[in-house]
Amino acid sequence: MCKILKTVWWIFPVWALLVSVSFSAEVDLSKPRVPLEKLKESQALKNPYETTSKNIEKGKELFQGKATCFTCHGKTGKGDGLAAPGFDPSPRNFTSAAFHAMRTDGELFWVIRDGIPGTAMMPMVGSVITEDEAWLILMYERSLGKK
Ligand code: HEC
Repeated sequence: MCKILKTVWWIFPVWALLVSVSFSAEVDLSKPRVPLEKLKESQALKNPYETTSKNIEKGKELFQGKATCFTCHGKTGKGDGLAAPGFDPSPRNFTSAAFHAMRTDGELFWVIRDGIPGTAMMPMVGSVITEDEAWLILMYERSLGKK
């Protein structure tokens, strides 16, 4: 018995990894990620920055740098960051046009600021970025859905 375990012990971690990878997926787009009682309030928020290529570039630099979004959402926002396979639900793919169509700027800002409880999406404003930086990053995310 012990001899068998010595040779096949690796099956257990590999199995656990496969199960966690194959069962994680993005949350259904039809489910708002802002708490329902805050949804209206969040949807009314507007990006104070004008959409210019310079601002998008600033957002990109933050997303791929100090804001650390890339570690989960991937360098180009496809939801395929290095840490992504470990999370259930999976990080959102920002290159999906359907995703952008289902969300207002305000809702996305709310999530970036306050996080999504019970998921790997942590509150980012205050700890990692400022509110202004969150709006610029959001502008970059929006640009990914317009190709
Ligand atoms: C530790 C991993 C991690 C990091 C770092 C991270 N996210 Fe997320 N993010 C997630 C996960 C997981 C989800 C999906 C959660 C869900 O759908 O419930 C998500 C979802 C989102 C959503 C979509 C919410 C929606 O309405 O569906 C936005 C927008 C977002 N993240 C923006 C950001 C930004 C901007 C940063 C960097 C400032 C960032 N995230 C950093 C893991 C991360």
